[in-house]
Amino acid sequence: SGMFTYDPGFTSTASCKSKITYIDGDAGILLHRGYPIDELADNADFLEVCYLLLFGELPTATQKEDFDFRVTHHTMIHEQLTRLFTGFRRDAHPMAIICGAVGAMSAFYHDSIDITDPHKREIASVRMIAKIPTIAAMAYKYHVGEPFVYPRNDLGYAANFLHMCFATPCEEYKVNPILSRALDRIFILHADHEQNASTSTVRLAGSSGANPFACIAAGIACLWGPAHGGANEAALNMLEEIGSVDRIPEYIARAKDRDDPFRLMGFGHRVYKNYDPRAKIMQKTCHEVLGELGIKDDPLLDVAMELEKIALTDEYFIEKKLYPNIDFYSGITLKALGFPTSMFTVLFALARTVGWIAQWNEMIEDPEQRIGRPRQLYTGADKRDFVPVSER
Ligand code: CMC
Repeated sequence: SGMFTYDPGFTSTASCKSKITYIDGDAGILLHRGYPIDELADNADFLEVCYLLLFGELPTATQKEDFDFRVTHHTMIHEQLTRLFTGFRRDAHPMAIICGAVGAMSAFYHDSIDITDPHKREIASVRMIAKIPTIAAMAYKYHVGEPFVYPRNDLGYAANFLHMCFATPCEEYKVNPILSRALDRIFILHADHEQNASTSTVRLAGSSGANPFACIAAGIACLWGPAHGGANEAALNMLEEIGSVDRIPEYIARAKDRDDPFRLMGFGHRVYKNYDPRAKIMQKTCHEVLGELGIKDDPLLDVAMELEKIALTDEYFIEKKLYPNIDFYSGITLKALGFPTSMFTVLFALARTVGWIAQWNEMIEDPEQRIGRPRQLYTGADKRDFVPVSER
C-alpha cells in the first residue's frame, strides 16, 4: 500500500525537534546550542562543551567547577565490572568490549533507572560521561595485555584518559599538556552531530523507556560500522594501503569506477556537501600533534594531503560534492598519539557519549515524544493458503 512516505535512509524525514545541534551542510556550518564548532574547539574544554550540550548554556565559573568535580568523582566503575573485561577473548575488538561493558552498566546503577525523575537522569548522564573514558581505557589495556590503570582525580578529562591508557606500573608517565589539549579538542569535534545513525539509534532505543546505559550501548553498536564511526579506522587502513603518493591515481580511479565498490574512506557525507568544518580543525590539530611529537615526514600525512588535493580538483568529487570529513585526518592524529587503529572508533564513542545522552534527555523531556515506530511498504507475497510439508 502507498499509505506511507517511502524514505529509505531517512533522507527527508525529521524524526524529532531538537535544540542541541544545528548543521547547514551546504554552507559547512556546525553549531552547538548556537556556538560555532571552531569557536568551541579553540576556546572551550571538552567538559564545558558537555555542559553546554546537556544543559543548553555555557557554564559559569562556579557551574563549571561543580560539573568538573562531579564528573571527576564518578570516574571509577564498579570493581565487579572489571571482571566482565577479563571474560572477553584477549583479541576481542575493543568496540565489542565497550559495547558489552556499557550495556552491563545497566545492571549496576539501579538508582539511575527511574528515567521520569530529571535528577536521576542527570546522575545517569554524569555517570555515563565520567565512566566512558575509564571503560574505553580498560578496553585498551585489556587489548594490549597490560594491567588496568585507575582514574586520577587530579588530571583533566583528556589527560586522565591518556594516563589510564599509557601509564604502566613500571615507570612514571607524564601527560604532555599539548597532546592532552589536542585530544580534548578531538573529543569536542566528536561531541555531537544531531540525528546521525547512532544518535537516532539511541533515541529510538530510548523511546520505549529503556535503560539509559542500554540505550548508549545500542548507539555504540551502530557507531561501529565503517560507514559511520568505523570510517576513521577504515581511512587510516586505506592510507596505509595506498602507502605512497605515486599510487594515489590508481585509488582515485577505483573510487570513481562504478563497478568497483571501493570508496575513498574519510570522504563524503550525507549532510555536508561542502568541507566538513570539523575536518578543517582536525587537520590543524593533526599538524599540531605531529609537530609536537617531532614527526617531520609522516608518509601517511603526505598521502592524505596529496589525496585531498587531487580529489578536490577532480570532476567526479566536485560533481558529487565529496569533501574530506572528520574521519579523514583523525586517524593520522590518533595514531601519532599512540593509539592502535582498533581504538579509533572507541575514541569516537567516548566523545559522542555526551551527544547521545544529551539527545536522550531531550527526547525524554519532549512532551511530543512517542515510541519510535517507522512504517513500511510491504512488498512480499499476497495472502495464500498453508501447504502441508508432505505436499510441498
Ligand atoms: N568515494 C567515492 N565515491 C563516493 C564516496 C566516497 N567516499 N562517497 C560517496 N560516493 C559516491 C557514491 O558512489 C554515490 O555515487 P552515485 O550517485 O553515482 O551512486 C554518491 O557519491 C552518493 O553517495 P551515497 O552513498 O548515496 O551517499 P550517502 O549520503 O548515502 O552516504 C557516506 C554518505 C558518508 C556513507 C558515504 O559518503 C561514504 O561511504 N563515505 C566513506 C565512509 C566515510 O568516510 N564515512 C564517514 C562519514 S562522517 C563521520 C561519521 O558519520 O562517522
